[in-house]
Amino acid sequence: MTPVTLHDKTFDSYLSEQTIKERVRELAAQISKDYAGNKGKQSVLFIGILNGAFMFASDLFKELSIDAEISFIKLASYSGTKSTGKVVTAIGLDQDLFGRDIIIIEDIVDTGKTLHEFLPKLQHSQPASLRIATLLHKPEATQYELTLDYVGFAIPNKFVVGYGLDYDGLGRNLREIYQLSGNE
Ligand code: IMP
Ligand code: MG
Ligand code: MG
Repeated sequence: MTPVTLHDKTFDSYLSEQTIKERVRELAAQISKDYAGNKGKQSVLFIGILNGAFMFASDLFKELSIDAEISFIKLASYSGTKSTGKVVTAIGLDQDLFGRDIIIIEDIVDTGKTLHEFLPKLQHSQPASLRIATLLHKPEATQYELTLDYVGFAIPNKFVVGYGLDYDGLGRNLREIYQLSGNE
């Protein structure tokens, strides 16, 4: 596919629509297998992190063959006191997580800071289990200890857009994933 230009930057085609689709199917099959034992008990609760994960969450959710619920939250980070550092809060989390099997759906784990700061807050609600499904992971950029249970693609440390991910607001509607052009 031809490169795309968003604002001032050019992005080259990186993961095709078909490649993404197939991988999302595989992840959904793996998750469905792992949680098949929940049948007749409590359904799995998926929590999508807005905005970036909306497309991945939607496609993943459609492919599940287990009883599942989905909810979306937005994370807002602000500077707390010196001792607390940066504070990440969830907007829109209305479910009781106590005793639930939770799977967080993320678009990408880059430094890992967002989830590293947010997961302890979820643990506070005492879910039965808490796992992460992320479409993309940049291992070279990740600086925080995180267990990523379901990873679509491990990618190089280059900025990507498309399939929900944006560059300064643009690019979320692209059907494939593009990578910042090498010479930029
Ligand atoms: P973190 O560095 O792991 O905390 O990443 C935080 C968020 O930054 C991700 O969930 C994405 O929404 C966004 N982000 C990180 N890397 C990229 C990228 O390459 N393209 C678009 N958004 C990104
Ligand atoms: Mg995100
Ligand atoms: Mg963004």
